[in-house]
Amino acid sequence: MAVDELSVGGLGARVKRVEDDRLIRGKGNFTDDFKLPGMLHMEILRSPHAHARIVSVDTTKAWAIPGVHLVLTGELMAQRNLAWMPTLSYDTQAVMAMDKVRFQGQEVAAVVADDPYIAKDACEAIEVVYESLPAIVNPMQAKAPDAPLIRDDKDGQADNVCYTWEVGDKSMTDRVFERAENVVKLDCYYPRSHPSPIECCGCIADFNPATAKLTIYMTTQAPHIIRTAVALVAELPEHMIRIIAPDIGGGFGNKVPVYPGYVIATLASILVGRPVKWIEDKTGNLISTGFARDMYFHGELAIDRRGKIEGLRIHVDTDNGAFFSDAQPTKFKVGLMHSAFACYDIPYGHLTSQGHYTNKAPGGVAYRCSFRVTEAMFFQERLIAAAASDLGIDPAEFRRVNFVREFPWRTTYGMLLDSGDYDKCLTLALEKLGYEELRKEQAAARKEGRYIGIGISTMTEPLGAGNSREFDIIGIKMFDSAELRIHPSGKAVLKIGSKTQGQGHETTFAQIVAHELGIPSTDILVQHGDTDNTPFGMGTYASRSTPTAGAATSMASRKVRAKARKLAAHLLEVSEDDLEWELGRFYVRDAPQRGVTIQDCALAAYTNMPDGLEPGLENNAYYDPPNMTWPFAAYLAAVEIDPETGVWEVLRFVAVDDCGVRINPMIVEGQIMGGLAEAFAMSNMQFITFDSSGNCIGANYMDYLIPTAWETPKWELHEVVTPCPHHPIGAKGVGECATVGGPAAFVNAVMDAVSHLGVRNIDMPVFSGRVWEAITQQHDVSGFPPLAGH
Ligand code: CDP
Repeated sequence: MAVDELSVGGLGARVKRVEDDRLIRGKGNFTDDFKLPGMLHMEILRSPHAHARIVSVDTTKAWAIPGVHLVLTGELMAQRNLAWMPTLSYDTQAVMAMDKVRFQGQEVAAVVADDPYIAKDACEAIEVVYESLPAIVNPMQAKAPDAPLIRDDKDGQADNVCYTWEVGDKSMTDRVFERAENVVKLDCYYPRSHPSPIECCGCIADFNPATAKLTIYMTTQAPHIIRTAVALVAELPEHMIRIIAPDIGGGFGNKVPVYPGYVIATLASILVGRPVKWIEDKTGNLISTGFARDMYFHGELAIDRRGKIEGLRIHVDTDNGAFFSDAQPTKFKVGLMHSAFACYDIPYGHLTSQGHYTNKAPGGVAYRCSFRVTEAMFFQERLIAAAASDLGIDPAEFRRVNFVREFPWRTTYGMLLDSGDYDKCLTLALEKLGYEELRKEQAAARKEGRYIGIGISTMTEPLGAGNSREFDIIGIKMFDSAELRIHPSGKAVLKIGSKTQGQGHETTFAQIVAHELGIPSTDILVQHGDTDNTPFGMGTYASRSTPTAGAATSMASRKVRAKARKLAAHLLEVSEDDLEWELGRFYVRDAPQRGVTIQDCALAAYTNMPDGLEPGLENNAYYDPPNMTWPFAAYLAAVEIDPETGVWEVLRFVAVDDCGVRINPMIVEGQIMGGLAEAFAMSNMQFITFDSSGNCIGANYMDYLIPTAWETPKWELHEVVTPCPHHPIGAKGVGECATVGGPAAFVNAVMDAVSHLGVRNIDMPVFSGRVWEAITQQHDVSGFPPLAGH
């Protein structure tokens, strides 16, 4: 008898997360939990200035403090050729400032001591003399003709531009706009935010002078890339480097880049010959590690009288901070920004983008998003909402008129969509919200002076980087891997190239094996995060794990099943061709009662294999996806604004997600709820801003707000399933969909509530103060500089 898919914890089973047994009992092992014999502690001295020349660094007093083992400066780093490092975007980044500091919080020196308190005191004893320079805190200042040059370290760099990029058909797009019946324009700003995981970044670098092996315990979402990067930067042989990423307390993109602290701790361990631990504090994390967003948009839509979009123009200015260190596929200077408007059928489009150096922390990380997709979808949905409102078309209808309906579909900026049913998702969402009724309620409320608004956000996004033809990071092609070993007893170990940071891979990837082989998911141990112990993979970010490592898990399982078939034929004394497979069992086609289980085959692989068949039952797969996966979401928010204060509350929020086949519906729902909470926070409470001197405002949790259960609205979740045609189990990524599509739903709802007052745009965060200003003064509230009070 076949085993039942749900009872073995296969696809669709709501298996509880196996990770949680240890995590909720406080038995997880995070980087800071490791205490190695002889371990020392490192603290970093950071720049108080955003832009200043370094006149001198005097470390005499720091060296004199008992318990100090090493003081590192830019000069020492330079002696080892480590003062600068390459970034993932082929720029250079200072590991430790030597000539000048370029953002507040930049690394200036570090101390290694017996404990972190001594190291901190010694940092404070280092005397640095700075000569202050004017700070540039936004692209508009960076572009000014008299702007100071931030990257005077780079040969041939005469301005503050770090890249320019374009995609699309300019001449045809211009022609469409010339004869357009309607042109709708919108400018808006997606403010700088921060992924802000609860666990900050850190590492323990452990160089063993006896074996010359370097082991680094590290908070990284991508251990294998880090190993390669360390090998290249430190010129150490790769097989003598081991990166261990233990439990991670949230990554959200913040733990993808290589930060100077990792490099400094590694050099420190090599120099002192002892393990060196460096763990950031919260302020360090918020001011110096990868920020997200910080993009200024201008967009235009050419629309005919029926509401059909004929052309699209977008220009984006990005604020990249002092170093261009965005983690993104090499080909795409502004990440996957060109996925904007993918779900709409738009014949012609042209996108231009320019990046700017400023005196702010570098990063441009994809905060729970596929390389700038969040920004792309936010602007898309704001522009769509503005267009519908300007033209007086119902926003749901406007979307329907313009949705892509045939697949495969090449988007205006060249991406390939392979599946989806956008209308179905939106229709379900409208139905669940009771859209028509709510519109009537809104009209009646308006007569009473109450401001109710309905916001719609619909989007498809590319998840699962690569394929290897188009996607690479520092030249390493984007694919992923899995290695499956079945023990004689039928229990299994699965090793994957991705790295869970809370998504539940130890649960869901075992479920994929259960689906392919019928082995109960509870009999499968999933290992990840240790480069000595897992196959090479590109790590976990951009919701790529299920589309890539998940697919590799299927493929490795299928290879194992192919070998198990030979063993089954041997055990049943029939030809392989006479066998059929049902979940967990091979049987003889003409005698279905004669069969063997996958566990029988596993035992035979070690105890009773046929002549000529090598023993063992294991295999691996490196999976290079043919395309990204394209999940779709329709998010609907209903809000009510208090006209006296501008405070708005969410009345209802309906989410319909189509992420293809769901491996574990409970985990998928958790991913969506968490993503929506982050989207809600971005829409109205989070931004990291800077004063005119470049001082970071928002470097603590009093200013940078994290939503609690108290503020978070209730989510109403629904699903549609259109399987991904090229993924072995039809799954699409889902981890970031809600963070990507969510913010526009909230902002569009607030705009819908105040549109009758002539208000067209309030930039995020849509604070109550901004809403109140918009209502009372009946104008837009822009996040573009100069901001009031700055
Ligand atoms: O790369 P990351 O794990 O962040 O994102 P993902 O691949 O979208 O997966 C997030 C979590 O949801 C993982 O545990 C997946 O296996 C699970 N998932 C699922 O159960 N079904 C899907 N169709 C997609 C993801």
